[in-house]
Amino acid sequence: MKILITGSNGMLAKAVKDEFKDNNELICTDVAELDITNSNDTMDFVTKVRPDYIINCAAYTAVDKAEEQEDLAEKVNAIGPRNLAIAANANNATLVHISTDYVFGGDKDINEAYLEDEPKAPITVYGSTKLHGEENIINNCKKYYIFRTAWLYGDGNNFVRTMLKLGKEKEEVSVVTDEHGSPTYAVDLANIIAQAIEKDIPYGVYHATNQGFTTWYDFTKKIFDISKTDCKVVPTTAKEFKRAAKRPSNSQLSKEKLLAQGINIPEYTNALERYLKIELQ
Ligand SMILES: NC(=O)c1ccc[n+]([C@@H]2O[C@H](COP(=O)([O-])OP(=O)(O)OC[C@H]3O[C@@H](n4cnc5c(N)ncnc54)[C@H](OP(=O)(O)O)[C@@H]3O)[C@@H](O)[C@H]2O)c1
Repeated sequence: MKILITGSNGMLAKAVKDEFKDNNELICTDVAELDITNSNDTMDFVTKVRPDYIINCAAYTAVDKAEEQEDLAEKVNAIGPRNLAIAANANNATLVHISTDYVFGGDKDINEAYLEDEPKAPITVYGSTKLHGEENIINNCKKYYIFRTAWLYGDGNNFVRTMLKLGKEKEEVSVVTDEHGSPTYAVDLANIIAQAIEKDIPYGVYHATNQGFTTWYDFTKKIFDISKTDCKVVPTTAKEFKRAAKRPSNSQLSKEKLLAQGINIPEYTNALERYLKIELQ
């Protein structure tokens, strides 16, 4: 298969390149090679390359900064996917796009997880621009997969790396107990994408995180436990831990739709163990 991977220096992109490197022709573009916000460049590039699949790993992901950079976030997260959707559609390519748990409001009972088609109510600029990206794809492209993921970590700046660093430097760290979700290893998300393509599952929107739910507090305890880090984890609340963008309190995503397609999704604890084995080498 010929696969175009956009935003190719990003954290997920690294895992996607690795997952698809054998038996495929990969065309990897960073922002200098293809800026997805430019509609003409995007159409010209896709028309020239004629990929079977476009895996869009390009995004504006600075959740707090987005509160002040709405125009830029909208350009990258909404206009970019629209440009790719139009170009994919014109060239009979399938667009694979990554979205987020932040499209939901997060006020659901913590014993429940969001299904794909539940009402969206983003509470951040980032979430709202990502929702516009989803809508632009659905409205402009016939062959698409939108995978909503969450709490992503891998080869790039991420929560696990931050906690490992803080755990070494400090005697204690304060972590929120009232945000619920699923940490997701980029390697596992890339593999889920590969399984979906391989199985040729129906086009549409899917939730794609590791299995199981936790809080940032419990996840941090697990990180320190596995890495044998001697640092106390002090519980705090989202209200006390101030950030520019409010986080959804419950962003648990149900994976029933993907599981029903026979996709294998590892547990988040298993994923964390595999990640830390590499990270702590
Ligand atoms: N990280 C998370 O916790 C998380 C959670 C849920 C969903 N997601 C979604 O998962 C996907 C992958 O996230 P990630 O963490 O791998 O993101 P990332 O590491 O921030 O990578 C995004 C990449 O996109 C590039 N980019 C920015 N603007 C571009 C443009 N106009 N044209 C082409 N490339 C551009 C960036 O380049 P520069 O670095 O040069 O700007 C960067 O290499 C995103 O769609 C994100 O919204 C992430």
